[in-house]
Amino acid sequence: MTSDRIAILDFGSQFSQLIARRVRDAGVYCELFPWDAPAEKVLAIQPRGFILSGGPNSVYDPGAPTLPDYVLQAGLPVLGVCYGMHLLAQALGGQVVAASHREYGPAAVRLETCGIWSDAPADLNVWMSHGDSVAALPAGFKAIASTTNTPIGGFADEARRLYAIQFHPEVNHTQRGRELLGHFVHRVCGCASDWTPANIIEESIAKIRALVGDRPVICGLSGGVDSAVTAALVHRAVGDALTCVFVDTGLMRKDEGRQVIETFQEALGIRLLAVNASEEFLGALQGVTDPEDKRKRIGEKFVRVFESQLERAIGARPVVAGRPFLAQGTLYPDVIESRGPERQSAAKIKTHHNVGGLPADMQFDLLEPLRFLFKDEARAIGAALGLPEALVWRQPFPGPGLAVRVLGEVTWERVERLRAADAITLEELGRAGLMRLTSQAFAVLLPVRAVGVMGDGRTYHEVVAIRAVTTDDFMTADWARIPYEVLARISSRIVNEVKGINRVTYDITTKPPATIEWE
Ligand code: XMP
Repeated sequence: MTSDRIAILDFGSQFSQLIARRVRDAGVYCELFPWDAPAEKVLAIQPRGFILSGGPNSVYDPGAPTLPDYVLQAGLPVLGVCYGMHLLAQALGGQVVAASHREYGPAAVRLETCGIWSDAPADLNVWMSHGDSVAALPAGFKAIASTTNTPIGGFADEARRLYAIQFHPEVNHTQRGRELLGHFVHRVCGCASDWTPANIIEESIAKIRALVGDRPVICGLSGGVDSAVTAALVHRAVGDALTCVFVDTGLMRKDEGRQVIETFQEALGIRLLAVNASEEFLGALQGVTDPEDKRKRIGEKFVRVFESQLERAIGARPVVAGRPFLAQGTLYPDVIESRGPERQSAAKIKTHHNVGGLPADMQFDLLEPLRFLFKDEARAIGAALGLPEALVWRQPFPGPGLAVRVLGEVTWERVERLRAADAITLEELGRAGLMRLTSQAFAVLLPVRAVGVMGDGRTYHEVVAIRAVTTDDFMTADWARIPYEVLARISSRIVNEVKGINRVTYDITTKPPATIEWE
């Protein structure tokens, strides 16, 4: 089956990805393209409509993004949001005026009846973030929204199915914004709500089969949800042509290896090779303190271990033409974020090893079946594929493992120390029922020592920081308000039970400006 599709053109707003999430939430498949992507590439998905995102520019800025000709030429419905509205106004003969300052924040908007909110109330609280505004409507258009500051807060030509709004329907602060986007994709563009886990699985399986043919596939399992869903999906598509490899890097959390082996080999019946490569990984990290250097060495080591397991994986299978595949759980936000230099992104701040950091001379072709999915979609298909709930809802764990949580040099002794502190942290949060309330929680070993007193003696030991965050998308995050009693228990257990640690701190920084991991 082929689902209905929407193309979103990204003009650089910090909310562009949110538009894509909201459209997917409405059950419609969409893709986000840079505004200057080649027309053929955008039209190849056969969109039933376009959404033009907001952006930081004024249409009068030198070199500001422009509206590509194919958008209006296609004769399809268009919804312009903020900067997207200014571009539409300009292209259709309206008048855009540059403002001396940006209007930013909540605003009350009055709506006129039209196809994208015929059943909405006349007044809504919305979120605005714009500099330019539209001073005169293009011919044939009517105003569909206004605020006290902005008389033309939206306009439409319903016969041509062209809509524009000044405010941001994609952000939570805009009342009934999701509904508005839903109306646009369903009523105006005529898309069905066919982007469901069952359909995603069916489409993905067909694509994987077509790409892979008879070639063998190796999938590394990290214990995290992304690689688990990837493995389950590829297994559904190609069966025993898939071999999963669990590499014990020595950098896993407590009991991680056992849990992965139990789930995949025993519960799901997927062929799994377990490899203990901890000496190699720790060896490769000896003397290394730079976070990016750690990531690159680990990324390379993983690929080398997978290559070394090829023969074992393929076993007695007949030799087929073409390179084997390496399946990875790369998600859509990683793909979007690693795209352009104009995007402030986690992927460029750190080399997430399932995106970059792979050696150029590796012997595999990449298979990334989750490349167009958001994390919640990956979780939903994991559940639909029958993965155990505990695995589907598992907190993310970075590919480089504890190496990026042992700040400074990664030695056996320090990894063991952190692993013990981390296990206590997770155990206490679990006991307090806080694991599902925190999106990600862990301990970090800092590269400093502090003076303490234990019994009658002085100690000069290491310091652990606890990090616990709440987030929807892992791109922005707030620190979790863990009750003091729980923090007290974690702290007292760590300093009492873990040798070599005499101080525990709690990280109260948001992302941005910090990141979730410390390295
Ligand atoms: P940051 O630290 O950039 O992390 O705020 C955002 C999310 O990504 C995870 N993360 C990684 N995942 N390889 C991965 O597979 C990596 O190198 C990596 N670095 C960070 C992090 O745990 C969080 O969920």
